[in-house]
Amino acid sequence: MGKNKNNKAIWTTRIKGNSSSLFQRFGSSINIDKRLYKEDITASIIHVEMLFKQKIISFKIKNKIVYGLGKIEKEISKNKFQFYQKYEDIHMNIEKRLFEIIGEEAGYIHTARSRNDQVLTDFKIWMRSASKEINKNLDKLMKTTLKIADKNIKTIMPGFTHLKNAQAVSFGHYLMAYVEMFYRDKKRFLNNMNSLNECPLGVSALTGTSFNIDREYTAKKLGFKNPTKNSIDTVSDRDFVLDFLYNCSVCSMHISRIAEEMIIWNSDGYKIIKLSDKVVTGSSIMPQKKNPDHLEFLRGKSGQVYGNLFSMLTILKGLPLSYFKDLQDDKEIVFRTNDILINSLKILNEVLINFHPDHKKMLKLAKTGFITATDLADYLVKNHSISFRDAYKKTATIVNYAEKNKKDLDDLTLQELRKVEPKLTSEVLKVFNLNNSVNSKKSYGGTAFDNIKKMIRKYQKLI
Ligand code: ARG
Repeated sequence: MGKNKNNKAIWTTRIKGNSSSLFQRFGSSINIDKRLYKEDITASIIHVEMLFKQKIISFKIKNKIVYGLGKIEKEISKNKFQFYQKYEDIHMNIEKRLFEIIGEEAGYIHTARSRNDQVLTDFKIWMRSASKEINKNLDKLMKTTLKIADKNIKTIMPGFTHLKNAQAVSFGHYLMAYVEMFYRDKKRFLNNMNSLNECPLGVSALTGTSFNIDREYTAKKLGFKNPTKNSIDTVSDRDFVLDFLYNCSVCSMHISRIAEEMIIWNSDGYKIIKLSDKVVTGSSIMPQKKNPDHLEFLRGKSGQVYGNLFSMLTILKGLPLSYFKDLQDDKEIVFRTNDILINSLKILNEVLINFHPDHKKMLKLAKTGFITATDLADYLVKNHSISFRDAYKKTATIVNYAEKNKKDLDDLTLQELRKVEPKLTSEVLKVFNLNNSVNSKKSYGGTAFDNIKKMIRKYQKLI
């Protein structure tokens, strides 16, 4: 920027001393909020169009400002814009440059608005598209998961509780559990769109304005449903930020859970999946190693995301109304969180494309731990007219016997089983078949093959 009187902070008429460079560095947010330049320019153009429509500024001034803003947008997008820390943020940097391009008439742009409503308008517009982008990535991830689930409807694995073999399940069903989670995440981001639907522009610093502005007009033109209803609440409110951060936290928690499961399944103790070389890294000392680093990153990143939610909650705690500089950090927190989540979704998708379930080992593992014990208890209830509690006790006795004799349940002979329940017939032996076990869970939402197929088709249509 050349030597001109605009090469100073806007408030130098009032505040004579120069702010120390330390403070400028500390207080400036330009390196963070320059990311909002497009939203800022769009909102400014709509703002001056409204000012003209309401006869607050002239046609000529409006056109000059729109022209200048267009030029600035091009400069920024082509990396030809010089950002200055001393102008604090994106709003002042753009305004300053506007003065250079169109001269003193740039001074009309800030009529009937403040940076307080300006920044919130930009931020909400940004968050709207960021949420759409997150949902696009969630869709992609769900599509990948659905494909793998579809191929694995009949792949049998142990379902765990307490990480101990519980009951046999289909691997496809297991994966569909994550589709449920990611679909809820998507809905959560869609819900937040509602709180993003109120436009802050025009509440000015905190009171509203005495200019005859048209807030409905600016709200509609900027893609909001309506203007916000209370000027003081508007500039103080960061609930939509918390909602976004919470949604990101829940989504990254889901990512960390599947990451952890895959780490366990890939571990040498389990070895029921194999990660392809694309998604593992080596060790600097142990030549044999193939480590699931990416999955560990995914598991760990949720820590940062939760931390960001708590940072924002803490900033807001006890903060009086209305605007305080404390709030400026909201953007850094949100941008960082958003970037982590987008990367995590992409990386998880990549990992899912690059792993293989080992069907044989899954089945082998599912055959351990007396996994069909509950099926046997259910069989006794259905075929021998006893209560579930009695059946539970008889089955536990059979499990004790098998364990003592180092046998699995399906190694037991009918004679051995009859020692506990004399009325048993050879029919009972069918309950130890894992395929039968999985396919018998036909209750809605259960792991029977047809159920899974239907759910997969349902989601394939939905996404
Ligand atoms: N960069 C500021 C922020 O994001 C803009 C609002 C400044 N308002 C003020 N009253 N100092 O919070």
